Amino acid sequence: LRLFSGSSNIPLAQEIARYLGLELGPMIRKRFADGELYIQIQESIRGCDVYIIQPCSYPVNDHLMELLIIIDACRRASARQVTAVIPYYCYARADRKTAGRESITAKLVANLMTQAGANRIVGMDLHSAQIQGYFDIPFDHVYGSPVLLSYLASKQLPDLVVVSPDVGGVARARSFAKKLNDAPLAIIDKRRQAHNVAEVLNVIGDVKGKTAVLVDDMIDTAGTICEGAKLLREVGARQVYACATHAVFSPPAIERLSSGVLEEVIVTNTIPVLPENRFQQLTVLSVANLIGETI
Ligand code: R5P
Repeated sequence: LRLFSGSSNIPLAQEIARYLGLELGPMIRKRFADGELYIQIQESIRGCDVYIIQPCSYPVNDHLMELLIIIDACRRASARQVTAVIPYYCYARADRKTAGRESITAKLVANLMTQAGANRIVGMDLHSAQIQGYFDIPFDHVYGSPVLLSYLASKQLPDLVVVSPDVGGVARARSFAKKLNDAPLAIIDKRRQAHNVAEVLNVIGDVKGKTAVLVDDMIDTAGTICEGAKLLREVGARQVYACATHAVFSPPAIERLSSGVLEEVIVTNTIPVLPENRFQQLTVLSVANLIGETI
């Protein structure tokens, strides 16, 4: 078994390697003057089971292309099996056509990875679980919920209500609520007017006087979570916590999240959180052991 890391989250890859008692494999990664990327695996991997760790986070196109090149290099070096470990799957929100003449980019990404030579994929908390079906190769879908739930449970928050920030996230929030001693569930009726602009309308369920925990797969610009938190406070929630697997944190997320509307923001390290993006209310939990165990 050999483990390699792309450049998008080396600290996570190192943690996974430590968990497995392995070293990350040596690899040359260079950029040419025109921006093209050069990858060379620096040891023989002939006949090996190779795992490549590369969440396709910002800058997504660079990290995706880097992953494709590493997969191709491994396949051409006669690896027996190439597994792409993608803790964050880019373009996951482009999982269907919502208007005419659009691309289903999540499917295109699946085609590219398979075409490049991946034999198996390990993904985590996909925006929509059906993305697994975009692949004709085995796909292990790992859930980050065990680490998020055990942290939340350890806080022993009183009068808990789990809140889905939109209708699409109800199944995820319901499963969290069930595992938090069957806590009640509330749903925010969110309507979007444009990409990355969230408009919050209504809360379905009782949150008055309660500790609300908003659960989402990702926090991108933080519009969804912060508008949701504001609304929950307006309708009487005592405290609002936010919990999400993927800390995408595109501007102005940090500004919004650190404004004080949230008691705590709990995320995982599928995407690295830069030191300058850390703020007082932020807690980052590691999913390295979960991924290590899956490998
Ligand atoms: C939407 O369906 C997703 O689950 C997230 O709620 C959304 O992508 C978060 O984006 P933002 O933080 O920019 O509102």
